[in-house]
Amino acid sequence: MRVFVDCDPGIDDAVALAYLAARPEVEIVGIGAVFGNGGVDVTADNALRLLELYGRPGVPVAVGASRPLVQAPRLAPHVHGDNGLGGVELPPPAGGPVAESAAELLVRLAREYPGELDVLAVGPLTNLAIALGLEPGLPGLVRKLVVMGGAVRVPGNVSSHAEANINNDPEAAEAVFAAGFDLDLVALDITMKTVATTEWLEELKGVPGEKAGRTSEFLDFYADFYKGIFGVRQCAMHDPLAAAVLVDPSMVTEAFEAPVRVELAGALTRGMTVADLRPRPGGDERRPARVITGVAEEEFLGRMLDSLR
Ligand code: BDR
Ligand code: CA
Repeated sequence: MRVFVDCDPGIDDAVALAYLAARPEVEIVGIGAVFGNGGVDVTADNALRLLELYGRPGVPVAVGASRPLVQAPRLAPHVHGDNGLGGVELPPPAGGPVAESAAELLVRLAREYPGELDVLAVGPLTNLAIALGLEPGLPGLVRKLVVMGGAVRVPGNVSSHAEANINNDPEAAEAVFAAGFDLDLVALDITMKTVATTEWLEELKGVPGEKAGRTSEFLDFYADFYKGIFGVRQCAMHDPLAAAVLVDPSMVTEAFEAPVRVELAGALTRGMTVADLRPRPGGDERRPARVITGVAEEEFLGRMLDSLR
């Protein structure tokens, strides 16, 4: 399968890249970097470094949006560290990013592989929204889009109702949800209950090699942040779970379909993902998203560990 990854690495983004890179059947045809966990220059540079760490040098990395469509950017150094990788310094990459923007690269690849390209979007959706502006037929060219984002029937993580990727660019997210993609949504509903446990993190520490070693160092920083949330040393693996839903769809055990919209106006709820759960939803007749609510947890944790061996 051919996969374009749009991401803001980012510690959990890093593990998502490891998950994909470890699978011989996955051709990572391009990476778009976007602001989010860090500035876009940092996330693009991290993507290049991570591709080398995880054994996929040479994948084109394109620099994307440095800011949201409308609001001012907000970054997350308290979650991912100032360099986006928990302060861990990976060797500088051999090459640099390509000249095309992330949106241009995505559109070119979607036209090159019509009906075959899968898109994994695990950062703010700005690059995808810009790509839709360049090619409104993008949803018809892409096979499947898996988005990590949103909090559908659970609290948000950056406000009472909003999740970070959606909140970082609500206008972009709304444009993507309205566009008609075959869309799987991996929201906090599932990512906050399918976590890397203390035992899993300990097991990773025992895995020899550079991939596991460096990843374990990133995750030490990330687990310190999540300890403040969960009370124990474990961490949400948002982005790798979205990667798993894309490449291991049989791992999904429960999901529901509903049109999803993004609240753009609410004083308290801007950035909220609103699923219309009525049997006969109203509003525009947008294509429903599939919201993932259950996965085979043990299998996911096992495969994630295997990808780092
Ligand atoms: C999402 O926000 C980012 O910080 C993570 O990388 C993940 O994509 C979780 O809300
Ligand atoms: Ca991310």
